[in-house]
Amino acid sequence: MTTTLAPRVHLVDWRALTAAERDAVLGLEISAAQLEFAGAVGKSVASCEAATPAEVAGLAVRADDRIVGWVVLKRGAAAPAWVAADAAVVSGLRIDARHQGRGLGGAALAGLAAWVARHWPRTALLALRVDDDNAAGIRAYEKAGWVETGARHVGRVGVERTMTLRL
Ligand SMILES: CC(C)(COP(=O)(O)OP(=O)(O)OC[C@H]1O[C@@H](n2cnc3c(N)ncnc32)[C@H](O)[C@@H]1OP(=O)(O)O)[C@@H](O)C(=O)NCCC(=O)NCCS
Repeated sequence: MTTTLAPRVHLVDWRALTAAERDAVLGLEISAAQLEFAGAVGKSVASCEAATPAEVAGLAVRADDRIVGWVVLKRGAAAPAWVAADAAVVSGLRIDARHQGRGLGGAALAGLAAWVARHWPRTALLALRVDDDNAAGIRAYEKAGWVETGARHVGRVGVERTMTLRL
């Protein structure tokens, strides 16, 4: 009998990563089609470095001491105009293609809610926009308890859903 243990997933602030871990973040790979959904990781990292830590958090997903993913949280003036004042927006989430489908995305989303409760306790809601064609993203968010909120709209690539998680 084979027993599969869930990997231990931690979210680690970009500023606390070692140089090797930063390189691993910048080396994360997803398919060209997925890049349309999540954007380039280098650009996402640069947006964190340029911002104030009180408003933008770039978080590496570390599983069993290996960097496997990345996600960014923004709030206040750093968040887009459609985000409510008490909310933070999630953007650029990715799990490296070599590690997808093992529950890491779901574990990262659970970790994200815990991170916000601990570090940004006044944030009552998480929000994001996901492309309607992004079946993996939508499934991962739904499984983590996110719900579609408001009307769909046409975004940069196509129709997008707004999804939220009440904390
Ligand atoms: C979205 C993403 C982070 C999910 O990460 P992951 O580690 O593969 O997710 P998990 O293994 O935790 O799977 C979560 C759920 O999504 C489902 N899923 C994964 N890939 C899927 C796919 N291609 N189509 C449909 N569902 C899929 C899983 O089956 C699982 O649901 P289940 O347990 O009911 O089967 C990953 O697919 C990714 O990095 N995508 C590219 C970037 C992206 O689109 N980011 C979101 C931008 S809004």
